Amino acid sequence: MADDGERHRQSRLFTDDDGEFDPERAREESLPVEDGEVIDTDDLADHQRYVEGRGIYDERNRVNDLTGREWKYATKSVIAQGYPPAVQHDLRSEHGGQKPPRLCAELIGRFSKAGDTVLDPFAGVGGTLLGASFCEHEGTGLREAIGFERNGRWVDIYETVLERENGERLERGDPPLADQEMRHGDCAELIEDVPDDSVDLLLTDVPYWHMDELEQTRNERATRESKLGSFDDGGDEADNGGGKDGDGGRERGDGGRESGDGDVDEDPGATGTKAEWLEEMAEKFDRFTDAVAPDGHLVVFIGDMYREQSYEFLSADLARALESTAPVTLAANLVWYDPSKDLHVYGYPFSFVPSMVHQNVLVFRPDDDR
Ligand SMILES: C[S@@+](CC[C@H](N)C(=O)[O-])C[C@H]1O[C@@H](n2cnc3c(N)ncnc32)[C@H](O)[C@@H]1O
Repeated sequence: MADDGERHRQSRLFTDDDGEFDPERAREESLPVEDGEVIDTDDLADHQRYVEGRGIYDERNRVNDLTGREWKYATKSVIAQGYPPAVQHDLRSEHGGQKPPRLCAELIGRFSKAGDTVLDPFAGVGGTLLGASFCEHEGTGLREAIGFERNGRWVDIYETVLERENGERLERGDPPLADQEMRHGDCAELIEDVPDDSVDLLLTDVPYWHMDELEQTRNERATRESKLGSFDDGGDEADNGGGKDGDGGRERGDGGRESGDGDVDEDPGATGTKAEWLEEMAEKFDRFTDAVAPDGHLVVFIGDMYREQSYEFLSADLARALESTAPVTLAANLVWYDPSKDLHVYGYPFSFVPSMVHQNVLVFRPDDDR
């Protein structure tokens, strides 16, 4: 084991022009560097191992496959990243509420380990499933994913996306993405076939609550307009934030809004009052939680809304509703901030109306005594 003097000597070998320790240089020379210091791998405890280029991994890690250094980054409460259109985005954007597969992969990497099972009971066109497959090539290893989707159109799109994406990957010489299990049907019924405690991570994006029929009409109009490529920059506040899938489902920040407020026709169950919507979600999550392993997590995308001169704190409402009905406890609210999002002039010059450039990602843990 190297004493402190020896470690100092090692450090001095990798100095920059000012004589300061240069971790980049040390890293290039494959020396284990953690927090800017060369570490002595002989000093590691039995449960620790140095992973080249990634830092020290603790074998007791039950949450994910991340090293200490990666963990520090992954516990940040804000994910400030835009995701340019990718993974057959043109096809997936027909949905309107699709989530970027690489954002899903990022969350899957934070809350599961290679080989774990991920469930998305509201799978849409498969952002979660594709993310789980990306983990094989761009993360620590493949996760098995199961998706439920009651709209056959979205199931077909997921299958086509995978086929086309894999065709392109093969042409580039990249290995194909694994085909995950997308089941067509109502999650309330399909969940009955999932054994208790068999899911390590439930990652989903809930169907939104629609305020009322008027709201639906506005959304349908917005969807039609956005599909024609035009959008009202003047600031129709009804279009700001949340919405069915909100603007946050958008993966592109390069001008024209590419997805509308989503598949309003596909979510007839989400058109009642907010209380009914919350009750329905809470009941469903109560059942979903049985499927989640005691060490597992439930991670839920939810955008807030600004409507009728008031902020609808849907993320807080949903968190409280789930906690009061399902045996889960809120562990965190992560914020996905998309810096590439277009801004509109909402409210100017008379009223402050927030430009919703973020979505919330609620993180729950199953209760011990459920
Ligand atoms: C917000 S979207 C999810 C989008 C998804 N994250 C993606 O990347 O495509 C919610 C989805 O839940 C589906 N859905 C709503 N109620 C459902 C139910 N009871 N069972 C199964 N799917 C349902 C809707 O059709 C919609 O596609």
